[in-house]
Amino acid sequence: MLGIQCRPVNYATVALSVAHGDLNATASEERLSVHSQPWRTGGCHFRLRIQKQFIKSGGPSVTRAMAPAPSNGQSQSTVELDLSLNPRVAALKSSKTMFVADKATAMKDSGIDVIKLAAGEPDFRTPQAIVEAGVWAAQNNHTRYTPNAGTLELRKAICHKLQEENGLTYQPDQILVSNGAKQSIAQAVMAVCGPGDEAIVPAPFWVSYPEIVRLSGATPVIVPTLLDDDFLLKPEQLSKVLNEKSRLLFLCSPSNPTGSVYKLEDLEAIAAIVAKHPRLLVVADEIYEHIIYSPAKHYSFAALPGMWERTLTVNGFSKAFSMTGWRLGYLAAPKPFVAAANKVQSQLTSGACSISQKAGLAALNLGYAGGEVVAEMVKAFRERRDAMVKKLLAIEGVKLSIPQGAFYLFPDFSSYFGAEVEGGGTVNDANELCEFFLDKCLVALVPGDAFGEPKCLRISYAASVEELEEAVSRIEKGLKLMKRKESAVSSA
Ligand SMILES: Cc1ncc(COP(=O)(O)O)c(C=O)c1O
Repeated sequence: MLGIQCRPVNYATVALSVAHGDLNATASEERLSVHSQPWRTGGCHFRLRIQKQFIKSGGPSVTRAMAPAPSNGQSQSTVELDLSLNPRVAALKSSKTMFVADKATAMKDSGIDVIKLAAGEPDFRTPQAIVEAGVWAAQNNHTRYTPNAGTLELRKAICHKLQEENGLTYQPDQILVSNGAKQSIAQAVMAVCGPGDEAIVPAPFWVSYPEIVRLSGATPVIVPTLLDDDFLLKPEQLSKVLNEKSRLLFLCSPSNPTGSVYKLEDLEAIAAIVAKHPRLLVVADEIYEHIIYSPAKHYSFAALPGMWERTLTVNGFSKAFSMTGWRLGYLAAPKPFVAAANKVQSQLTSGACSISQKAGLAALNLGYAGGEVVAEMVKAFRERRDAMVKKLLAIEGVKLSIPQGAFYLFPDFSSYFGAEVEGGGTVNDANELCEFFLDKCLVALVPGDAFGEPKCLRISYAASVEELEEAVSRIEKGLKLMKRKESAVSSA
């Protein structure tokens, strides 16, 4: 129990400011006793900041600054706050990509010249035709709730796109439009997975897959893939982990964070294994489908024979159309799964933003695979990829699988782990190397452990060529300050 003095102030909220760290298991045992004063009749309005450490070891530190004791002589009442959390939420990891990106932004805002290569966000402006459609929608009264599943016109346009570009036949009631593909994935997982189920997550993975699975109560089963296999899941690896609990398999192609793209024959071999497991469904995350570098080609898993019935196809507008802030994505799947996800959405957020839906329609009207506008962006990404691959492969000790899509590089920097840094200290792992690159070289990258591969770092090349070149030269300078371990040098 913890007693906290607080002063009534003119705020209608109770602000608990908790800094860094998860409340985790310890949180359930925490009870916070607050001595407060009523502010207005009918409510207890006060702002409070906590000044304490969690009592059990391993608990988080909590920000502290005690408000002054009341000076007006009024008596205090006692309120008890229970700070315990839903154990599933307490166990969630927060997104490291967001953490690094936010830290880099804060440094930049304070005047430090950081090059931000951490966020998974195209640096291009949303194409003009899309913006205009959004403005038009706002000005013309398209500002009301839409049907929960999305407007019929947008769902029809999505069906048309899926038929034309992906060879997939869906009806509008098999489409659910959401506030971003992340929500589409979360709802799909919640719809089909629960306690006792297992979801197969090939690593390296997009940071949110395992956490979304945990939130559903199911268990993520992480299957590591190898750089030498271009980080692609091998059918025999899949076979080994499947059992009667297996409910979901995640496939992401082109992949975040590796940029790997499954070939048709890879997918066919995976489909042959999937077909043997009647309970197994597949989440096919196709959000990077248009950002792909020929000769690599995108294939929709649901288009493979026998896979339509068990595939939950997820896509969205954030990446190809540079629409991250518009928050628009969708799920396409057999009706029972879409209906279940629709029910979840109806209780969480209702339909996606009406203005964004009109903008999304304009995006789909840009033409096949986004037409010229998207082709221009992909061309620019390709030039950046080529330049970055060349530079990274020239760095001693760095290994790389050449990405075929998306806008990330995922180099293996492990030969620098354990290196001594000139002037003192060692860099022991990907986290410390990223800290070094951020603090000393002013380049923000994300450590690979966030994606389930601790040997690597993720570099987003959604930045100008000048920035990318400057970033690599800063990294090279930083690495020159390091003395690698003998074993790392000789095994290179
Ligand atoms: C692989 C993958 N899937 C889904 C998403 C979610 O995209 P959004 O919610 O912006 O549509 C992202 C975003 O980074 C991603 O990289």
